Amino acid sequence: MLLISKALRYGYMTRIDCCSDNIFHLTNGVMSYYLMADEDNIYSIYWGKYISDITSVVKSFEPEWSSFDYEEISERTEFDIFDGRRYTRPSIKGEGKYRIGKLKRVGYDIENNTLTLRYSAYRDNLEIVLKYSIYDSVIKRDVSLASKRDEIRLTNSLSGAVSLPRKTDGYLSYVNGRWLSEWQENKTKINIGTFIIESRKGVTSASSNPSVLISEKEDGEECDCWSIMLGYSGNWELDVEKTTLGTTRISAGINSFDNLLSLRPGDVTSLPSIYLAYSPYGKDSVMQEMHNFQRKHLIPKRKMCRVLYNSWEATGFDVNEENQLELAKKAASIGTELFVVDDGWFSNRDSDKSGLGDWFVSTRKFPKGLGHLIQEVKSLGMDFGIWVEPESVNPDSILYRTHPDWIYSIEGVEPRLARNQYVLDIGKREVKRYILSFMRTLLSENDISFIKWDFNRAITDPDSFANTDSREIWHKHVESLYSIWKTLREEFPHVEFETCSGGGGRVDLGIMQYANQFWLSDNTDPYSRIRMQYSAMQFYNPSSMMSWVTDAGKDLYSLDYRFIVSMCVGLGIGANISKYSDKEIAKAKEWVDIYKDIRDIIAEGKAYRIGNPYIDDVSAIEYVSNDNKDILIFAFADKYLYGNSISYIKLKGISNESVYMGIDGKEYSSLNLMHIGIPIKRDSGLSSTFVHLKRQ
Ligand code: GLA
Repeated sequence: MLLISKALRYGYMTRIDCCSDNIFHLTNGVMSYYLMADEDNIYSIYWGKYISDITSVVKSFEPEWSSFDYEEISERTEFDIFDGRRYTRPSIKGEGKYRIGKLKRVGYDIENNTLTLRYSAYRDNLEIVLKYSIYDSVIKRDVSLASKRDEIRLTNSLSGAVSLPRKTDGYLSYVNGRWLSEWQENKTKINIGTFIIESRKGVTSASSNPSVLISEKEDGEECDCWSIMLGYSGNWELDVEKTTLGTTRISAGINSFDNLLSLRPGDVTSLPSIYLAYSPYGKDSVMQEMHNFQRKHLIPKRKMCRVLYNSWEATGFDVNEENQLELAKKAASIGTELFVVDDGWFSNRDSDKSGLGDWFVSTRKFPKGLGHLIQEVKSLGMDFGIWVEPESVNPDSILYRTHPDWIYSIEGVEPRLARNQYVLDIGKREVKRYILSFMRTLLSENDISFIKWDFNRAITDPDSFANTDSREIWHKHVESLYSIWKTLREEFPHVEFETCSGGGGRVDLGIMQYANQFWLSDNTDPYSRIRMQYSAMQFYNPSSMMSWVTDAGKDLYSLDYRFIVSMCVGLGIGANISKYSDKEIAKAKEWVDIYKDIRDIIAEGKAYRIGNPYIDDVSAIEYVSNDNKDILIFAFADKYLYGNSISYIKLKGISNESVYMGIDGKEYSSLNLMHIGIPIKRDSGLSSTFVHLKRQ
């Protein structure tokens, strides 16, 4: 298997060619993405294995073959305005006099691997700028819209579509779930019709994630694979449509459900970005390309993923200076670098019923102030982090009593409570100002270098006391959220952010532009985690994916087992370590030390998945460092059967013929590792194995 990065090293160039006045080719030498930008239409011509000449492909599109039908190419639009003349899902459709429109090409340019296409519509009232940027194997597509003369009200505002090479058959993989069972992998053959995944909950949501993998073969191994991800944290949709002419077209963007995007003259509105990755070498290869892109170009840079301790599962809402300090001392003794106090530190927050919205430190719980605890934590050699949930409010709070009109609420209807809280209308200027102001105070008065930002319920009652069309609140919420995060990141560049939403309900490439890491799920049972991590990794960078070693199922799984599961992504600890014996503390420290040694390989190397934990009784996550010197294997096995206490894991991605040595001093040739495999021991319960091989 030729790795894409290797192909690139052998002299292929990531570039954009202008093949003619209207055909553009984005390529890295392995992948080709051709689009045709006509005077009044933009078409997806081809996206797949590298081809140098597109003429034959263009010629092969079926012409209009009967007066009942239309020609094949007309359903391959990349970005279109409802023009009343075709049946594709339009990207843009307006209201009133903007119901029907037509694209008009204004111009284009290519600069620094970005193709910019300029179009106008609605008799030159709407300016549309489409940008296609290529980064190695990932294409980022951006769209911005501006109205020149009067307000344009869009009910459809998708970011666009892309079509697979004509007549491609494939399988669609995506993730679904709910609280505690996020990231469940699903797969279906792409059949004629439209398959929609979406959120209508005002947040990315755990029900679905705006990411899909399409593979030519069902198992996704060694075949053409396309990965499509949308960067948006609100109501989104991703539609995979296969037509009767055999076109597979994927549209993505803001959900058209209850949508109104109002373009007022002078405003420039950006639509969510679409990220496209392709590899001819299978699902792990396209996954690596996505990881690589996210690390290099999307997720905010940081020195490393600090090993954190979070007190939520140990102390719940019952936090106080004494118990946090006790935990902090233990956390420091096992080598934790960041100590995070979760929910419960503010106001009268003794349960989820009260206090949310009142962001002042509880003097009952912290009589010496938060500053004192922070000082103690720092003197133990750790950084300090804290949990917030700024977008919500409990009815039992000073904030709600003072500003009952700050929440989403429909006139005459009792707003719906979820987890005993309402959602704040953060699109309102004064609410946004309030959030920024308390966050600024918290971060400037305290030595805090990490924020876990939570959002523990979905949006309901989508109406606003503000004087707007209430359909606008969905998008405004996201816009305001991004703007708050952006401001805070700029003002407090040393502070890292984690995105969390009742577990893994807000993970997408929109929020990941601002967040360093994400909380995958409140389910910390390691056996479930192996599967969740496996599926989430298909799309998201593993070292941003936090996994805590907790007490969940501690009678079922050994401490080693729990550590090995968490260490293959971003390691955290959430167990009640106050109760740990000296032996357990020593064991935990051993693992934390090992993790510190290998975390750069996880953060920068290539990930491979061996076996599939949903199907196979033995599976593994493997990382290979970019210089091929280190290989990490995290292997998981179910209870053995028929006395087979050894299984062999065949490694992937080792390109050189060389000898590797394990820490146990055993030597393995790379060919043996790949073709025979590395032996792992299994026992009568669940087992896990960690192996670090170094090239000799
Ligand atoms: C959510 C998060 C948890 C924890 C609690 C606190 O459920 O996912 O990790 O922060 O909120 O209330």
